[in-house]
Amino acid sequence: AQSGLKDLFYDDFYIGAALSGNDVREQPTSMVMTLSNHFNSLSPENLMKWQSIHPDSGKFQFVQADRYVELGKRLGCHLVGHTLVWHKQTPEWVFKDQGGMPRSSKDLSAMMQDHIQNVMGHFKGSVKTWDVVNEAFTDEGDFRPSAWYQTLGEDFIKLAFQTANEADPEAELYYNDYNVWKPKKTDAILSYTSKIRNQGVNIHGIGMQCHLGLEYPTVNQLEVAIQKIIKHGFRISITELDIDVLPNQSGRQGADIDANFPYEAKYDPYKDGLPPMMQEKLTQRYREIFKLFLKYRKHIDRVTFWSIRDQDSWLNNWPIRGRTAYPLLFDEEYQLKDYIFDSLTTLKKG
Ligand code: G3I
Repeated sequence: AQSGLKDLFYDDFYIGAALSGNDVREQPTSMVMTLSNHFNSLSPENLMKWQSIHPDSGKFQFVQADRYVELGKRLGCHLVGHTLVWHKQTPEWVFKDQGGMPRSSKDLSAMMQDHIQNVMGHFKGSVKTWDVVNEAFTDEGDFRPSAWYQTLGEDFIKLAFQTANEADPEAELYYNDYNVWKPKKTDAILSYTSKIRNQGVNIHGIGMQCHLGLEYPTVNQLEVAIQKIIKHGFRISITELDIDVLPNQSGRQGADIDANFPYEAKYDPYKDGLPPMMQEKLTQRYREIFKLFLKYRKHIDRVTFWSIRDQDSWLNNWPIRGRTAYPLLFDEEYQLKDYIFDSLTTLKKG
C-alpha cells in the first residue's frame, strides 16, 4: 500500500473521514482501499443521528450503524459517534407529544436519557469518542433557542454529558460546534463547559467542525480559538474539515445568510474541473491549515474530513443545491489530489 495521509500524520493525530449510509451499505472496493491507505478514524455523517438510529419512540434501528462499526473495526479505525443531542435531524415526536403539545421538562429529559443510554450502550467498547452535544450555541454566544434549551434550560447540556458518562465511562466525550473560532461563541462554549466540568462533569474536549472557506476564517482567528481551548484545559478534535473553493463561505451558516446573497442558484463556475490557479489556492489553504494543526499537535487528537470524495460533500447542496465545491482531498475515482498531498508532505517533512 502507498504511504498515505494517516502515515504522514501518524505521530500527530488520527486522520478521519465521515461515511454516509451509502458508503457503509455498498462498500465499493476503491473506497475501502482508500480508507485502508489513508484513514485511521471514521465518523458517521448521518447514520447515527437520532432520526436514523431512533426513528420512532421505543424503536431503535442499528443496522446501518452496526455496518459502520464492523467496517471500522475491520480497518482498525478509531470510531467516533455523531451525534447524541442536536436540534436537527431529530424527529418531531421527541419534542412533542401525540397531541402536538411540547413535552414537559420531565418527559424530555427522560427521552434524552433513554436515547443516550440505549445508543451508547449498544456501541459500548466499540465507539470510543462521542459528539455528545452538537451546536448548542449561536455565533453571538447565546444558547441556541432550540426545543432542548427552551424546555430544559442550559442544564440540558450538563444532563447529556452526565448521562453519556454513565452509559460508557470509558468513552471520550466531546462538545461539537461550527464557527468555534468566532470569539463570542468560543468564549460562551468554554465558559459553559468549564463551569460544568468544575461541577464534576466529564468533558474530554471541544470539537471544532472547521467547515472553512479559502479565506475565512483567517489562520489567526482559528489559532486564537485553539489557544483559548487549550488554556481551558480541553483536548481538541477537528471534527468536520472541508474547504469550500466557492466564495460562499464567510463563516455564515444557514439562516445567517443575508438576503442579498449574491450568487444565483446555478452559480457553478468550476463544474468542469478546478482550474490550476484554484488548485493552487486550495493547496495553499490546506497547507496553512495543517501547518496550524501541526503547531498544536500535542493538543489535537484527530483531524476528520467531512466525507472522502468531493462529489459526496454536503457542500454541493449548501447553501443551494447543484454546486461543485471541491472541498476535499479525493476525486470521484477516489484518487488523491497529489498536488495537495505533495504539499502536505513537504510541510510535514520540513
Ligand atoms: O436521504 C434524503 C433523500 O432521500 C432525499 O431524496 C434528499 C432530498 O432532499 O434528501 C436526503 O436527505 C438529506 C441527507 O443529508 C442525506 O443526504 C437531507 O435532505 C439533508 O438535509 C442532509 O444533510 C445533512 C446535514 O448534516 C443535515 O443537517 C448532511 O448530509 C450532513 O453532512 C450534515 O452534517 C452536519 C453535521 O452533522 C453537523 N455539523 C454540520 C454538518 C454540515 O451541515
